[in-house]
Amino acid sequence: MQTLANKKILLGITGGIAAYKAAELLRLLIKAGAEVRVVMTPSAQEFVQPLTYQALSGHRVYIDLFDAEAESAMDHIELARWCDLLLVAPASANFLGKLNAGYADNLLLTLCLASKQPVAVAPAMNQQMFANAATEDNINQLKARRVLVWGPAEGEQACGDVGPGRMLEPEQLVNNVAQYFIPGKLDGVELLLTAGPTREAIDPVRYISNRSSGKMGYALAEAALKEGASVTLVSGPVALPAPQGVQLVAVESAQQMYDAVMQQASTSDIFIACAAVADYRVDQAADHKLKKSTDSMSLQLVRNVDILAAVSALERRPFCVGFAAETRQLEKYALGKLEQKNLDMIAANQVGDSNSGFEVDSNQLEVFWPGGRQSIEHATKTDIAKQLIDLIIERYTCARR
Ligand code: C5P
Repeated sequence: MQTLANKKILLGITGGIAAYKAAELLRLLIKAGAEVRVVMTPSAQEFVQPLTYQALSGHRVYIDLFDAEAESAMDHIELARWCDLLLVAPASANFLGKLNAGYADNLLLTLCLASKQPVAVAPAMNQQMFANAATEDNINQLKARRVLVWGPAEGEQACGDVGPGRMLEPEQLVNNVAQYFIPGKLDGVELLLTAGPTREAIDPVRYISNRSSGKMGYALAEAALKEGASVTLVSGPVALPAPQGVQLVAVESAQQMYDAVMQQASTSDIFIACAAVADYRVDQAADHKLKKSTDSMSLQLVRNVDILAAVSALERRPFCVGFAAETRQLEKYALGKLEQKNLDMIAANQVGDSNSGFEVDSNQLEVFWPGGRQSIEHATKTDIAKQLIDLIIERYTCARR
């Protein structure tokens, strides 16, 4: 089946021994129906002659930024606009560093900067180079900017080392490209999500917080991304990596979370409030570390703003989904919040046992919406997130009809 029919791929090849595998990748992309143009970095030519890719693609290979002849056929801005996806395979450590820093000193880097289309990279390098903190930083920052990072794989390397750094096999990369183009049910949807706990300062070194790990919220972000949503994750302090492709806004306090959410709420289509926001903050956090000079002390707490209620009260409001973590009378409290906060849906879970809820990898939910309910059985948070996102899609689609 021609899974990539009508898709236009700009295949970037950088200087690494895996450049020889790019020939097979190119062949498979074309076999899957894609139209492919090849751009090589000057050092890629040290490994494979451009003629190889020219023969396979049936088109001239673009290399030089200042090639008048190539520019007159399709100039580099036109080439950047032409493609549906820019795939750089193999992507060397040097290329990733320059891409991260915004360099444009060769044609491929210039195209990556000039293109509005998504960029995917398949890192390929020696395992020690891959393990280097500079490479790690570059890859993490590229991911944060929504560059798709595919691989690397682990195994034997051309230099004799063994470890992570091999380019993913061409079949796997073609598979990733095909997956990327499968339309998601949330394509074009702006989804805003809060996750994790908040920290309310007592003084510069102490705070009040809760046991939320952020796992449920991060799993929801991942599930929404898989359905093609554009996800902004406003997260309190957690020990989890940001899912690849999310726009992460890291916050600490409820007030910061409120500010970050309100900046985007009215332009979002769906808002999921999964964060365990502290209900109270210390009225006057001390400017300096408090000293233990007395036998007891009391803190004056004041209510934090309810972020979810504020979003649902907006004139132009997104589809609003809340969470209710309860230790008893789950249904009663959940239905109360659904109504009081004027929500489109609420996902309630029992907390306080060791099997679900805070700090654990599994959960179970009772989901309510005006006029309906559904149970999501006990499962991993990844499974639960997928089911909840499916349910949100169903209700969100109904609400828009
Ligand atoms: O009222 P309660 O805190 O139980 O409501 C829980 C729901 O409200 C969750 O979805 C939570 O993320 C959200 N919430 C909020 N801002 C607050 C308190 C709760 O967005 N200050």
